[in-house]
Amino acid sequence: MRVTVDDDRCRGHGVCCAICPEVFALSDDGYAEVLTPDVPAEHENSVREAVESCPEHAITLS
Ligand code: F3S
Repeated sequence: MRVTVDDDRCRGHGVCCAICPEVFALSDDGYAEVLTPDVPAEHENSVREAVESCPEHAITLS
């Protein structure tokens, strides 16, 4: 599973970082960055939750 954040959609709500800080972090400019684009198996469920919880629908799985 791979995860990306659309920089044009992200508004820095930080929900993704709260749900799965092992994969998402807020960068210095206040928007999400992906720490591990290849999602470790143990974090797949929380990444899915982050996808569903992002108010801007900025996170995509592939
Ligand atoms: Fe951005 Fe959505 Fe996370 S707006 S900081 S990708 S919860």
